[in-house]
Amino acid sequence: MFNVNLFKNSLNTEWVGRHFWYFKKIASTNVYVKSKKYTETDHGLICLADVQSEGRGLYGKTWQTEPGQNLTFSLVLKPLPNNRLPIINLMAALTVTEVLFQQTGLSFWLKWPNDVYHENKKIGGLLTETSFTGSNLDRILLGIGLNINQKIFPEELKGKASSLVLITNKKEYSRETLLAQILFRLEQNYSLWEKKDEILIKRINRQMLGYGCWVKLQIDGAIPENPFKFLGINTSGLLHALNSDDEITIFTHEKVRIHQIIR
Ligand code: BTN
Repeated sequence: MFNVNLFKNSLNTEWVGRHFWYFKKIASTNVYVKSKKYTETDHGLICLADVQSEGRGLYGKTWQTEPGQNLTFSLVLKPLPNNRLPIINLMAALTVTEVLFQQTGLSFWLKWPNDVYHENKKIGGLLTETSFTGSNLDRILLGIGLNINQKIFPEELKGKASSLVLITNKKEYSRETLLAQILFRLEQNYSLWEKKDEILIKRINRQMLGYGCWVKLQIDGAIPENPFKFLGINTSGLLHALNSDDEITIFTHEKVRIHQIIR
C-alpha cells in the first residue's frame, strides 16, 4: 500500500502535490478528477491510486498494472490560456526521464508523443486530458502511469513493457520518494514552461527518441513509404519533419506517431 505519510514527508515542493488524494482502488484517476467541479480541484492537486480498475491509456487503450506495484496518478493543472499547451505533456514526460536518470544513472527516452522508454521497452505513459467550463478550457489533467516494482507482465506486453526493477535488477524502489522527486522536478520544469524558457524545448528535443534521425512516421493512421527527418518540436509544441523532397512539414500532436527509427 502507498504510504501517504512517507510521501508527504519526502515532498519538497511549493504547490505540486500539496493537495493529495489517495485511493486504494478507483476506476481511473483521470476520470475521477475530471468528474469533480473546477472549485474542488486545486492547481497542483495529485490523485493517486494503488490500483485502477479501468485505467485509461492513449488511443482508447486500457492501462493495466499490478496493484500496489507502480505509480498511477493524475496531476491537475490550471494554466492561463495560451498556445503552448501541447508542451506540458512533453515537459512532464521529460521530467520523468530526468528523474529516472538521476535515480539509476541509465538513459530514459521520451517517445513522441507521450511514452517513456528505456532501450526498446516502454516503462511509462502519459494521458493528458482537458476539462472545460462551457467552451473555456479550465483544467489539464495529466495522467501518468509508471512501471516501478512490477516484475511480471501479461503475455501481450512481454518484450514491449518493462519496469524500473527489471531494468536495474533492484529488489524494490520506494514509490513514495520517487513520486516526491518527480513532483519536485515537475514543479521546476513547469516554471520553465510558464516562463517560455527555450531551454525546456531544447531539453525535450534532446531527450526525444529519433531526434535528428530519419524516421518512418505514422500520419493519421497511415505509414507513408518515404521517411522523414525528425527535426523535433518548436516553441509551440508542433513537430517539424523534413520530407524526402527537402520540404519541412509541421504536424500537430495528435496527427503523428513515430513508427520506426531508421538508424
Ligand atoms: C499510455 O497509453 O501510454 C498512457 C497511459 C496513462 C496511464 C495513466 S495512469 C493514471 C492516469 N489515469 C488513467 O486512467 N490513465 C492515466
